[in-house]
Amino acid sequence: MEIQIQKNVALRQFTTYHTGGPAQYFAVARDWQTFFHLREFAKKEGMPFLILGGGSNVLFADEGYPGMVVLNQMDKVAFHPEAVTSESGVHLMKLIALAAQRNMGGISALANVPGTVGGAVYGNAGTRDLWMGDALLSAIILPENGDKPMQVDKDYFKFGYRDSVIKKTKDIVLAATLKLKPTPAGVIRIEVNEYIKSRMAKQPMGLSCGSFFKNPTHFPSAGWLIEQAGCKGMKEGGAMVSDKHANFILNTGNATTKDILTLALKVHQMVKEKHNTILEPEVQIFPTNPFKS
Ligand code: EPU
Repeated sequence: MEIQIQKNVALRQFTTYHTGGPAQYFAVARDWQTFFHLREFAKKEGMPFLILGGGSNVLFADEGYPGMVVLNQMDKVAFHPEAVTSESGVHLMKLIALAAQRNMGGISALANVPGTVGGAVYGNAGTRDLWMGDALLSAIILPENGDKPMQVDKDYFKFGYRDSVIKKTKDIVLAATLKLKPTPAGVIRIEVNEYIKSRMAKQPMGLSCGSFFKNPTHFPSAGWLIEQAGCKGMKEGGAMVSDKHANFILNTGNATTKDILTLALKVHQMVKEKHNTILEPEVQIFPTNPFKS
C-alpha cells in the first residue's frame, strides 16, 4: 500500500471558516489501514495527529498545524433492513439523501448538522430534536492503541452534551451504524426542508463554525448571554459577531484565525463580566486552545 504524505498543505481549503495555515504533514485516508499507518508514523515521529472530517467545527491557527492532519474520505455505505452502516467520512446530508432514496428516514433532524458521520460521533453533534448519540446503534473504531478495527456499542461512547469519550481516548471512528425508520422519500424531503428553513430563520449563513460556544448547563443559552452582554455586531478585522445569532462569529471574507480568536476572547470576557459565566468554546481550536487556562 502506498500512502502519499504531502508537506505544508493549506488547511483553510478544508474548513468552513476558510482560515488557518498549513499542516506540516497532510494525507488523505480512504481505508482504515491508512489511518493506522499514518497514526503509527506520527507516533514514531512524536508529532500531534489529527483527523479532519467536514472541517465544520475546527479552527486552525494562522501559523498552521505542527503535525499530521489526515483528511477522512472513507465513504462506503451499506443498508440493512432498518439501519445503515456508514463509513465515517460520509457527510450527514449525503447519508440522509442516500437513505431517502430507499424510503428510509428517522435522521432528518441531522440535516441541520454540517459535517461528517465521524465528526458527529466524536462531538455528539445534533440538535434538540436528535443527537448523534440517539441515532447510533453501534460503531467500528480503531482503538487508540490497537492495530485492528473493533466493534463497540453506543454505551462505549458515554455521550453527553456535545461530548463523547473518544475526545479523550483518541480512538478513531471508522464507521457508524444508525437506526433508520421506513419513511416515504417525499415525507423526508418535507422534513429536511423544514429543518433547514427553521435553521436559516435563526442562524446566519456566512462562513463560520456554527455555534462558537457551548450552551452552559445551568444558564440561558450562549446566544442570549452574548446578546445581553452587548456583543452583537462587534468586529475585529474580518471577524464579526453575527447580528442574527450572537453565538455565531463570522468570517466576513478576509478574517484570519487571529481576528476570530481575538473577537471570541472579547466576547468571552464580556459575558464573564456581565453574567459571571465562563463560556466554553464548542469549536475545536488547534494547535492550542487559548480559552483553557
Ligand atoms: N438567543 C438570543 N440571542 C441570539 C441567539 C439566540 O437571545 O442572538 C436565544 C433564542 O431566542 C432562544 C435561545 O437563545 O431563546 C436558543 O437559541 P437557538 O434556538 O437559536 O438555539 P441555540 O441554543 O443557540 C443550539 C445549537 C445549534 C443548533 C440549534 C437548533 C449549541 C451550542 N447550539 O443553538 O447548533 O443548530 O440549537 O437546534 O448547542 C452548532 O452546533 O454549530 C449549532 C448551530
